[in-house]
Amino acid sequence: MIEQRKEEHIRIAENEKVVSEHNFWDDIRLVHQAIPEIDFDLIDCSISLLSAKLGYPIVISSMTGGTQLAKKINRNLAAAAEKLKLAMGVGSMRAAIEKPELADTFSVISEFKIPLRIANIGAPQLIDQSRKAFTHNQIEKAITLIEANAIYIHLNFLQEMVQPEGDRRAKGILKRISEISSSFPVIVKETGNGISREAALELRDAGVKGIDVGGLGGTSFAAIEYYRAKGVNDEEKMNSGNTFWNWGIPSPASITYSQVGLPVIGSGGLRNGLDLAKSISMGATAGGFARTLLNSADASEESVLKTISLIIRDLKIAMFLTRSRTVSDLVKVRKVILEPLKSWIDLYE
Ligand SMILES: Cc1cc2nc3c(=O)[nH]c(=O)nc-3n(C[C@H](O)[C@H](O)[C@H](O)COP(=O)(O)O)c2cc1C
Repeated sequence: MIEQRKEEHIRIAENEKVVSEHNFWDDIRLVHQAIPEIDFDLIDCSISLLSAKLGYPIVISSMTGGTQLAKKINRNLAAAAEKLKLAMGVGSMRAAIEKPELADTFSVISEFKIPLRIANIGAPQLIDQSRKAFTHNQIEKAITLIEANAIYIHLNFLQEMVQPEGDRRAKGILKRISEISSSFPVIVKETGNGISREAALELRDAGVKGIDVGGLGGTSFAAIEYYRAKGVNDEEKMNSGNTFWNWGIPSPASITYSQVGLPVIGSGGLRNGLDLAKSISMGATAGGFARTLLNSADASEESVLKTISLIIRDLKIAMFLTRSRTVSDLVKVRKVILEPLKSWIDLYE
């Protein structure tokens, strides 16, 4: 059942070590400028993303919906997104499409004035699997339900493969992405395995409005599925979850691969404001946070606000110490890139 799976994902992500072995943000060092020559209090963190004006270059990445726990999490995240003027995505809306009685666990976010609200649908659901593909009308309903300004189409094929019962068909997905992009603003996102240069070019040609790299270095869905399988002693799934735990393209490298003339959201493993500054220095327009916000989102609105305030404070310190008065100044800062990330970045140069 989808609802039970969603709840397990949250509990496992909150309580187990579900991250990949290496966090590649640690392979980037921004060069310290001993003479900042700007005033800390005049640092401007605002940005534009898909014609929305955000207070900070932060996207609350898609996580959940479909259960009462998810509703609470979405409400707490949405309240912070309104206060700080952030972008926010909800989790996969398959549950809302298939079971209208679960709709309020997503639509709760439309009670808040969020500058950029992003619906979410899985790429495997765009083509026929053991069940029928979602229609244009169903997708439109999902968008209307949360009064979304854009829709995330998420790519999660590693996760599908680790689950023996996962969706196995992928042929025709690009065509569907292209069709949907001609009607709605689409951002395609990965969910922890990153976007290659080849995929970024194909997505641009398909007409998407943005790419969220969701790269390797943070939450590993192979790891989450490993723990789910362990709970029921499913050896096949445990084996593949373990084998592919660290599979994917490091998030910072994926940001460089995804520079194809579209806004890029740098995500996957962001832990703090310094990681966020690094993601922008690699060419991201904004950074996306998922797991780092999950425990506070489960606790309270105040807790989310506190966690994000700490992220913002560290972002500003990193900007001050690299002489970046604006977010776009961050793109130009000097940095040192260490191995193994350096080899990944050199791949396409
Ligand atoms: C509990 C949990 C549930 C998630 N559910 C979704 C989802 O429904 N749709 C989606 O596109 N991404 C989903 N993600 C993936 C995140 O949006 C993000 O791409 C990924 O976790 C990497 O970011 P992180 O390292 O900051 O966690 C989920 C992540 C977590 C931790």
